Amino acid sequence: MRLPIIAGNWKMYKTIEETIEFVTSLRGLLKDVPDDKVEIVICPPFVNLQAAASVIKGSNIKLGAQNLFPKQEGAYTGEVSPLMLRSVGCSYVIIGHSERREYFKETNEFINEKVKVAIEYGITPIMCVGEKLEEREKGLTFDVVKDHVVNGLKGISKDKVQHVVIAYEPVWAIGTGKTATPQQAEEVQKYIRKLLSEMYDEQTAQTIRIQYGGSVKPENIKELMACENIDGALVGGASLKADSFEQIVKFYK
Ligand code: 13P
Repeated sequence: MRLPIIAGNWKMYKTIEETIEFVTSLRGLLKDVPDDKVEIVICPPFVNLQAAASVIKGSNIKLGAQNLFPKQEGAYTGEVSPLMLRSVGCSYVIIGHSERREYFKETNEFINEKVKVAIEYGITPIMCVGEKLEEREKGLTFDVVKDHVVNGLKGISKDKVQHVVIAYEPVWAIGTGKTATPQQAEEVQKYIRKLLSEMYDEQTAQTIRIQYGGSVKPENIKELMACENIDGALVGGASLKADSFEQIVKFYK
């Protein structure tokens, strides 16, 4: 059985003051969520990680970052290393989000490097994959997703890949209010699992968690989570409000 994982990607939202207030209220709202029902992760911006870490200490909420630079340290102005993320208390890191692929021109090769380094430092990578609208319309969804998955995981062994979380985020569904239907999401996520079984083996593929992301809300989380190959959600906008994130986390109720 794969443990569902709900992660909030805050993107570039919230100051330190807002972070402390928000996470304090979230901690209270989520305190009864059992560890064996769902894993809860929040991914604030870098500068808010420490504040968030102190508020969630001893709770059932885990900390993730939204990016890393794949070196331990060095002359890389403006970047943040996996060692730094680990020391602030991150156990997760989002890698290869479509916004980074689009605005910062991140390639599969760079993403692959980051995924490997995250694993090396004991930080679970949440590797994002997904097609743009024009790619879907041209019938290229599976090709694009295959390219992201195969190249993003290049050189990662069977025992290590089990620590990776994959997030299927169709770009056309991000921040648009246009969620993929559960059938559309399941179709691609089933394909990703099949691909993983070809790249590794069936047993390994069955252990890897695949999240869905793109306009996830309290209103659609239940039907998405009912799909066989959807093991959680990567939530943007709806993770910024305590009540909506609470309802998403408590999808099982
Ligand atoms: P929204 O939930 O705001 O559509 O964002 C999804 C996303 O990009 C999560 O990483």
